[in-house]
Amino acid sequence: MRKKVILIATASFVSLILVAYGSDVLKDQSVVDLSKNFQKETPIEIKNGFEISEDDSSKIALNGKVLSNQIVTAQSEFTARFTTNKEVELFDTNDAEILQFSKNENEYRYIVKISNLGPGENLRTIKLRTKINSTYNIQKNKEEFPISNRIELSWEIYREKEDLGFSQGYIPRFEGSGYIFDGDDLAANVSKRNSLTSDYAPKDLVDLNLDKKLITNTPKMFLRAEAADALVEMLKQLKKETGKDLVIASGYRSFRNQESTYTGWVKQFGKIEADRISARPGYSEHQLGTAVDFFSSDTGFQFTNEFDKSVVGKWLKENSYKFGFIQSYPEGKENITGYKHEAWHYRFVGYDTAKKVRESGLTLVEFLSNI
Ligand code: DAL
Ligand code: ZN
Repeated sequence: MRKKVILIATASFVSLILVAYGSDVLKDQSVVDLSKNFQKETPIEIKNGFEISEDDSSKIALNGKVLSNQIVTAQSEFTARFTTNKEVELFDTNDAEILQFSKNENEYRYIVKISNLGPGENLRTIKLRTKINSTYNIQKNKEEFPISNRIELSWEIYREKEDLGFSQGYIPRFEGSGYIFDGDDLAANVSKRNSLTSDYAPKDLVDLNLDKKLITNTPKMFLRAEAADALVEMLKQLKKETGKDLVIASGYRSFRNQESTYTGWVKQFGKIEADRISARPGYSEHQLGTAVDFFSSDTGFQFTNEFDKSVVGKWLKENSYKFGFIQSYPEGKENITGYKHEAWHYRFVGYDTAKKVRESGLTLVEFLSNI
């Protein structure tokens, strides 16, 4: 008899706490319904199964788990759409993001982006749960998150191997290309035809921010001493004539660093496009320690060819040679330089050489091939 009374008292105490806690958070009467809802633990439902943005539409939806048939893509990123009956969020999931793009009473539509797909088979799963902090979950407070409010969605994605053209950690050389053995030569003709060796690193690097007091977008931005001194002079003059500053966005990159830079672009855009915008390891002027990339506030601190049309970009195109710098990849010369136009990329080649390049009207690679 005594036992029974205690039980009843405990039960009403618990429901009182629930109501009080809920009221405090929600500040309306809906708390009662929500807690009922909670006790039932309504699972997340995938309403319309999946619509995938690739061509393949053969997929199955079973008990909230979705495992598509194999999807074939050439890209490192895959996008799909799904609809749920609750607001959801990702948890314990890497290399994926979800974006909510519409919200009705019981219908939440999302786009999911899965990135960093490697070549070959990729079995990728995303985990979703009812959004924490939604009124529904506040009720749960300290207790374990109900399993029925979680869902896992999986895809088998096959990324065509041809797209990378190399296996992880091995980037092939350009066929028929040779080696440059004197990377210290300011006129070293680094291009798709000639690479530096993997162990080449300049010996006189200086820190552009700590040693030269220039504005860099990351710490530890280096350039060879002579190039750094010329850069300081050039930016001083730029400031004097235009009132503007530039940010140094890249300087020296080691062979290893270039390897990950290039691989990153291949993963994002595929090999063909990557070869138009990024040098393979050994083939980059950045390994020389004499090439810089600029960011400007006028072009939103972005790598954009609009830079050429900005005040600072125009000034550099007109004047950089006076300080020994040349824009390596000018507009309309991809067939010669091997790279798409890069308005922001300049290389120090020394005062005399820069003047001669300017007078010749040739691209840097053509000029250096002729001497
Ligand atoms: N973006 C230039 C080509 C480089 O990677 O060196
Ligand atoms: Zn660059």
